[in-house]
Amino acid sequence: MRILITGGAGYIGSHTLLDLLSADHEALVVDNFSNSSPKALDRVRELTNRNFDVAEGDVRDLSSISARIEAFKPEAVIHFAGLKSVGESTEIPLHYYDHNVNGTLALLRAMDAVGCRNIVFSSSATVYGDPEYLPYDEHHRLAPANPYGRSKLFVEEILKDWAATGGKSAVILRYFNPVGAHVSGRIGEDPWGVPNNLVPFVSQVAVGRREKLHVFGNDYDTRDGTGVRDYIHVCDLASAHVAAVSFAANHNGAEVINVGTGIGASVLEVVKAFETAAGKPVPYGIAPRRAGDIAEYYADASKAKRLLGWSAKYTLADMCSSAWKWQSMNPNGYED
Ligand code: NAD
Ligand code: UD1
Repeated sequence: MRILITGGAGYIGSHTLLDLLSADHEALVVDNFSNSSPKALDRVRELTNRNFDVAEGDVRDLSSISARIEAFKPEAVIHFAGLKSVGESTEIPLHYYDHNVNGTLALLRAMDAVGCRNIVFSSSATVYGDPEYLPYDEHHRLAPANPYGRSKLFVEEILKDWAATGGKSAVILRYFNPVGAHVSGRIGEDPWGVPNNLVPFVSQVAVGRREKLHVFGNDYDTRDGTGVRDYIHVCDLASAHVAAVSFAANHNGAEVINVGTGIGASVLEVVKAFETAAGKPVPYGIAPRRAGDIAEYYADASKAKRLLGWSAKYTLADMCSSAWKWQSMNPNGYED
């Protein structure tokens, strides 16, 4: 299939691009490189021995995205491009709505102009908010607690309305906590500044870039008092997109699908698994709870299995060993 990948240079996009090329799809990447490096794309070329076009551009720019779509004539779009920091979204909410909501509107208009009828969208488990029950299934009520989460929810609703106009397909993937890296250690997560998320922070402690991990709270009502999440290997997430894009091409309407493992791990369990993977201790101290954090959540991943025939195959040990391989081979990420 001919697939346009917005945000294809980013963390999840680059891993998905690699899988799509390996499955013989043709790809065009559109990315403004606001949170990524073109080097990730060079490495995907190197790993797959396949070429693809890259257009530097912003998805919000209707004339430019229309021209790209008109020339490439994609059969499907995978839409990763957007902003993703919860904390930042509370400081500059309009910027988040602009990138995430207006970006999607421009993309859908450009798709409509050439009759491209299939889209796979990156949503997040953050749309659920405080759990009423666990595991979260796709019918759980939606109550995102910050502008980032609300921007994802608004886009979900827009996509449902778009898909309901007939002959169109939108697959909305709600990711749980993507971590890890490609087995080669050549591509991985490269956050700018101080990492907000657990595994990148632990990786930087292990590689010596940071002194110690701050564990945000050890008095939650969980098995060891620390927060529990459903971590999913980024390569499992990538293969879920390959399955989703084929599903989209053969179905009409919108489907919302959780992408997780269904298994929760606590902060201290992640630290222990990472120590085993890296063969060294990860110093940590207990810090106050982080505002807005939920004690525990994980996915009911049965719909993905039923609809896409997909389920996660990698373990927490695989996630940590690949994250460590990437971090130790690239201590400063894509920067030389
Ligand atoms: P990322 O920042 O690594 O990738 C996003 C890419 O989009 C980057 O390459 C960035 O340069 C590009 N981009 C941003 N705004 C753009 C714009 N207006 N026009 C063109 N390109 C633009 O993030 P990621 O972790 O790979 O996440 C991909 C998607 O998945 C995002 O939509 C994110 O919200 C969603 N998501 C991520 C996580 C996570 O934990 N990483 C969890 C749930 C959902
Ligand atoms: C965060 C976002 C969420 C987003 C997700 C993407 C917040 C409040 N939520 O969720 O919207 O979808 O990232 O993956 O930012 N932890 C520490 N020390 C650290 C970092 C994290 O103890 O330095 C703990 C957290 O308290 C949490 C767990 O590790 O219990 C995972 O944290 P994180 O990786 O930030 O993910 P989420 O909190 O699930």
